[in-house]
Amino acid sequence: MISKCLYPVAGYGTRFLPATKSIPKEMLPVVDKPLIHYAVEEAMSAGMINNAFVTGRGKYSISDHFDISYEMENEISGTGKEEKLKEIRELLANCTFTYTRQKQMKGLGHAVLTGENMIGDQAFGVILADDLCITEPDEDSVMKQMVGLYKQFRCSIIAIEEVPRENISSYGVIDGEMISDNIFRVKDMVEKPPADKAPSNLAVIGRYILTPDIFDLLRDTQPGTGGEIQLTDAIKAQAKNGCVMAYKFKGRRFDCGSVEGFVEATNYCYENIYKKK
Ligand code: G1P
Repeated sequence: MISKCLYPVAGYGTRFLPATKSIPKEMLPVVDKPLIHYAVEEAMSAGMINNAFVTGRGKYSISDHFDISYEMENEISGTGKEEKLKEIRELLANCTFTYTRQKQMKGLGHAVLTGENMIGDQAFGVILADDLCITEPDEDSVMKQMVGLYKQFRCSIIAIEEVPRENISSYGVIDGEMISDNIFRVKDMVEKPPADKAPSNLAVIGRYILTPDIFDLLRDTQPGTGGEIQLTDAIKAQAKNGCVMAYKFKGRRFDCGSVEGFVEATNYCYENIYKKK
């Protein structure tokens, strides 16, 4: 029902320099897969087979990754290593990949608006690949859980997580009315508030399902925190007009935008996924 997922991938990844000098941060591997590959697999598991990337200069390796590598296929076909290509072949066979460039870094909201032509007039997913979300093998992926909620509410759905107060200023934060254990109706939102001004400890995580009215709201959004056009501000306007639900998802999320989170994710995926293959 929701067939498209948008990936804002234009950022510089300065926290990982010099590793990210010529490799996009989304291509850093957690064990044996780049972060962006986990993101596309998660979208696919939720039925979002059309992948739309808002990219930037120097990000060619992302489009190369989601394409056939004839030389490599030729080298390893018929050898024991062919197994290694199985997952990516399946993904390529089932998905489409579209790219557009964000010419200036004007914030997450601006990145999403840049992707409008690739999305059109339909609800869509957004995944920030540096929030890596892992669920148990018998559990739905976070995006699939969110699609379930979208079917129920037919409005924008944002993923949230409780974070310690001292870290809250790194996130978008919601003020919501609890309607069940894991679901809140969003009343207000603020991007990266100081800890003492945060309306709650419920932080927005990089998974969204957005209805297409978000594009007009983004066009009307003025630069906010950090002088950037914030997605949070447009979703806040959407919440005031109608309905936006926030969902405390099942699963573990790793902040792979930080070195500590990245190392934690690597250890977790090695022990719980890679070694069990
Ligand atoms: C972005 C969003 C923020 C959200 C966060 C999740 O911030 O602007 O609302 O909480 O992603 O990772 P960024 O981490 O890109 O600064």
